[in-house]
Amino acid sequence: MANLNVLTICGSLRKGSYNAMVQRALPSLAPDGMTLTPAPAFTEFPLYNADIQNSTGFPAPVNTLADAIRGADGVIFCTPEYNFGIPGGLKNAIDWVSRLPNQPFAGKPVALLSASPGPLGGGRVQYDMRRSMVFLDAFSLNKPEVFIGNAASKFDEKTGELKDETTRGFIKQQLAAFAAFIAKLAPKK
Ligand SMILES: Cc1cc2nc3c(=O)[nH]c(=O)nc-3n(C[C@H](O)[C@H](O)[C@H](O)COP(=O)(O)O)c2cc1C
Repeated sequence: MANLNVLTICGSLRKGSYNAMVQRALPSLAPDGMTLTPAPAFTEFPLYNADIQNSTGFPAPVNTLADAIRGADGVIFCTPEYNFGIPGGLKNAIDWVSRLPNQPFAGKPVALLSASPGPLGGGRVQYDMRRSMVFLDAFSLNKPEVFIGNAASKFDEKTGELKDETTRGFIKQQLAAFAAFIAKLAPKK
């Protein structure tokens, strides 16, 4: 398989984020030939407002993120669930890039992971994400799904390393499936 360049986007902005820990664990769990790169930050995006877009244009960081998405063979989201849905910051980032010409998620393979201290691992945010990805014509990997519940028990408190072997195994399976999914959608890969 040719080298796959996959962009990873974390939906949490906090320093001690479990989802950022998941994002950092991904390279060690990826199949041969898959390179994972964290996406440029969306912290400087203003709140989406069409008046900004129509007066001063798209803010530079929006184009930077969109270019990174366009240039990737696939995108993986590691995101918490906020109030059963997509965290506002992440949704704002998706909303901004979605208004660009040559919309970056169109035709893009996408995989989803979520982590939560709660028992369900943020399962509901993944269905919210899938819905937005449908509108954007992305292709979300159906299975295996990865929901990391009771997250506090699965990471090393000091290092933030993902120590739960069962979870590591699930993620490995998902990343292998994602590589195959990308190859199916873009057979030259
Ligand atoms: C505004 C807000 C809403 C939340 N809503 C949910 C929720 O619907 N489901 C859930 O499992 N956890 C919820 N939580 C708890 C988060 O899962 C928890 O804070 C988690 O650690 C956030 O992810 P992070 O560790 O990557 O920052 C919520 C937290 C916040 C701040």
